[in-house]
Amino acid sequence: MSSNKEISNIPKHVAIIMDGNGRWAQKQGNERVFGHKHGVKSVKNIVEKASELKIEYLTLYAFSTENWNRPKYEVDALMALLVSSINSELDLLNDNNVSLQAIGDIQSLPKDVIDELNSAIKITSKNTGLKLILALSYSARWEILEAVKNIALNVKNSEINIDDIDEELFSSYLTTKQIPDPDLVIRTSGEQRISNFLLWQISYSELYFTEKLWPDFGKDDFLNAIFAFQKRKRRFGKTNDQIENK
Ligand code: IPE
Ligand code: IPE
Ligand code: MG
Repeated sequence: MSSNKEISNIPKHVAIIMDGNGRWAQKQGNERVFGHKHGVKSVKNIVEKASELKIEYLTLYAFSTENWNRPKYEVDALMALLVSSINSELDLLNDNNVSLQAIGDIQSLPKDVIDELNSAIKITSKNTGLKLILALSYSARWEILEAVKNIALNVKNSEINIDDIDEELFSSYLTTKQIPDPDLVIRTSGEQRISNFLLWQISYSELYFTEKLWPDFGKDDFLNAIFAFQKRKRRFGKTNDQIENK
C-alpha cells in the first residue's frame, strides 16, 4: 500500500492524542490497563516511523491533568507503565537518534517517574534526530495560566513592559517555548475533540481524526495521516490565489 516516496511536505511537528486504549481492552473482555500496555507498542512503531520520515518533533499526549481523576489503580498502573517503558525503550530512542523531552506539570508526577524521565532526557540529550516530547500531567489551560502568572510577575518586577507582550513573548512563557507549533494533530479512537491539549499552539494546525483505537494504530495508519496532511491546503487566512502565486 502506502510508501514513503512522497517525501516532500513532511510536517515538521506532529502531535498525537493517543486515545482508545481502554475501549480496545474492554472490547476483548480485558482490563483497561491491558490496553495501556499495548499502547506502548504503538508508541514504539510511531517513533520509529516518525524518525524514518525525518519528522523533527513528535509530541505525544500521554497523560492529561484531568486523567488524575481516574480510579487510583488505573493512575498507579499508568505511572508504573511510564517508568517501565521509558526504561525499556531507551535503546530504541538511542538507536533511532531520538532525544526525549517532557512538557506539563512534571513536578506533580511521582518521584520515580520524574527520576526515570530526567535520566532518559539526560541520556538522550545529545541525539540529533527526532525530538520526542511527552505531554505528562499536561493541560493547556494550566500551561496558559502559568504563563499569565509569570508574565504578570515579570511586569510587576519591571522586567518586561505591558507593551512587550506579544505572541512571541507569550509563546516563550509556555512549556513548549523551544518547540514550533504542530503542523498536524492526530487523534485516534473516533473522538473529535482536543481535550485540553496545546490550545495556544494548535491555532493553525491541521486536525486529523481516525476511528482506529491507539493500540491498533500502526505505521501505515501514521503514513495515511501524513498523506492526508499533504493534501491539505493551508491558507493561514489568505486566499487560494495568494497561496498559489506566492
Ligand atoms: C488513552 O486511552 C490513554 C490515556 C488517556 C492515558 P484511554 O485510556 O482514554 O482509552 P479510552 O478512551 O477510555 O478507550
Ligand atoms: C485525552 O484522552 C488525554 C490523553 C490522550 C492523554 P482522554 O481519554 O482523557 O480524553 P477525554 O476525557 O475522553 O476527552
Ligand atoms: Mg480516552
